[in-house]
Amino acid sequence: MAKIGIFDSGVGGLSVLREIRKVLPGDDCIYFADNANCPYGTRDRNFIIDRAREISRFLIGEGCDIIVVACNTATAAAISTLRAEFPIKFIGMEPAVKLAAENTSTGVIGVLATTGTLAADKYKDTKGRFGNDTRIVERVGQGFVELVENGDLESPHSREVVGQVLLPILEEKADRIVLGCTHYPFLEATMLKIIEDFRTKHHTDYEIELIDPAPAVVRQLAKVMEAEGIRHGKEGKIILHSSGDGTVLHKLYGTISAK
Ligand code: DGL
Repeated sequence: MAKIGIFDSGVGGLSVLREIRKVLPGDDCIYFADNANCPYGTRDRNFIIDRAREISRFLIGEGCDIIVVACNTATAAAISTLRAEFPIKFIGMEPAVKLAAENTSTGVIGVLATTGTLAADKYKDTKGRFGNDTRIVERVGQGFVELVENGDLESPHSREVVGQVLLPILEEKADRIVLGCTHYPFLEATMLKIIEDFRTKHHTDYEIELIDPAPAVVRQLAKVMEAEGIRHGKEGKIILHSSGDGTVLHKLYGTISAK
């Protein structure tokens, strides 16, 4: 019976776990949140590689057959090292630039991600392959990870923090906005309210959509499991681990598993 390991700097990867549960409900999932070291976004690459290596060793020790690096920043920094050093398959996050570029009607897309992701060669490569005919407005979601780690998803304060970053992207006429950090989908409700107000105020005649790459990543996970002959179970269990205070992890998991 399959055991899927999943890790992130913190609680953000739960947005990927949520999708895994929808598609592969029979498989056991072991989730590791590195809350003690969150955020990864502005950390040194070698630090992230060391953490990714240690967490992967732990997950493999727990019996995982495959690992999802449910963190764009850790994928950009460490996935090639993990693939070279461990004998199992790793699935990484990929900012959905291709999907956004294919679907924009204004010709402008937004990419929200951490400093580490936007600076990485991996992202530059993706942008080079898929974003050439599109104008890309890139922004770090300054303060977003902290909001999610504090469980502050829809307060007036979170709206203020999110608006500071999102509004300038909307003003550039971006109509497809890539959520390039796994924490950001938890701010979706707040983002949608900001978008709605923006559309009303500016009478925009185009749709504006947020793009979460999790469904595509989970499709890839299912494909690789199939190719590797990893057999699915019937009733998957979820085990959550945190290197720090797991309070928000358990609380947020409660909200995603109740839906
Ligand atoms: N959730 C992570 C990502 O997808 C990392 C956020 C952070 O720790 O800065 O990039």
